Amino acid sequence: MKIIAIAAGKGGVGKSTAAVNLALALKESGSACAIIDADLYGPSIANMLGVQASIKEEEGYIIPASGLGVQYVSLALFPFGKNPSIVRAPIANHIIGEFLEKVRWNNIDYLLIDFPPGTGDIQLTIMQKISLDGVVLISTPQLVSLLDVKKAFGMFSQMEVPVLGMVENMSYFENGMEKHYIFGKGHVEAFCKEQKIPLLGSIPIEERVTECCDKGISLINKYPNSSSSLSYIKIQKNLEQELFKSLNTFDQSIGDFKILWKN
Ligand SMILES: Nc1ncnc2c1ncn2[C@@H]1O[C@H](COP(=O)(O)OP(=O)(O)OP(=O)(O)O)[C@@H](O)[C@H]1O
Ligand SMILES: [Mg+2]
Repeated sequence: MKIIAIAAGKGGVGKSTAAVNLALALKESGSACAIIDADLYGPSIANMLGVQASIKEEEGYIIPASGLGVQYVSLALFPFGKNPSIVRAPIANHIIGEFLEKVRWNNIDYLLIDFPPGTGDIQLTIMQKISLDGVVLISTPQLVSLLDVKKAFGMFSQMEVPVLGMVENMSYFENGMEKHYIFGKGHVEAFCKEQKIPLLGSIPIEERVTECCDKGISLINKYPNSSSSLSYIKIQKNLEQELFKSLNTFDQSIGDFKILWKN
């Protein structure tokens, strides 16, 4: 199983939307996928995936919910999750710990973790409790968004989590054949070049993305030929390629490792 964080540092840039659509793209390509909604203060995965099978408890373990063929856990599924989450950091860390260690996933290939905004306590708890195979960073084209994403990039680099690439969300708005770069252009690409990380893809602003998120339906199934669906599928393929490269690099470094015995 590969564990991948979907993060930004910044709020509202499309992390949860990307986590859900990447999970759906992975599922379409034949992988079994799950999501941990680590955003305890603003959980949105349950709404975006809809609930087809609800969360249960068995022998002290959490049996995840599932929606659109993706397994998930989210605070929104618990009775108190409907109210504002007024939760102090130690309790929040405890809940995250349960999500990371006490869930009985059913044979999954990928576990995506939808990170909350910021670079704080919960983010650190996750990185200390489990070994992430990598992170995908989401940013809008705006410099203000990139400012926070740079901080997240620094945090993951410091924690030695491989940055598998970036996704530029809300890149442009298509009006017929014309593209309008409402939030600016080129900053994310420049940052990727500077840091030598791949730009996995760009997603346009589309009403269909919002509609599917709000209704808990699959964008990729309902609008398979939309620019946004095709972008998510391209990003999923690029991500798998980067992951493969990253794991291969690791294997080779193990291969080069030699133990010398002293006489
Ligand atoms: N490409 C897109 N086109 C249109 N709407 C989008 C797109 N991406 C995201 N959205 C919408 O933007 C809003 C914010 O997205 P989302 O909730 O995924 O962001 P987030 O980074 O997870 O936010 P938070 O930090 O609050 O968790 C949602 O209403 C979502 O439907
Ligand atoms: Mg979110």
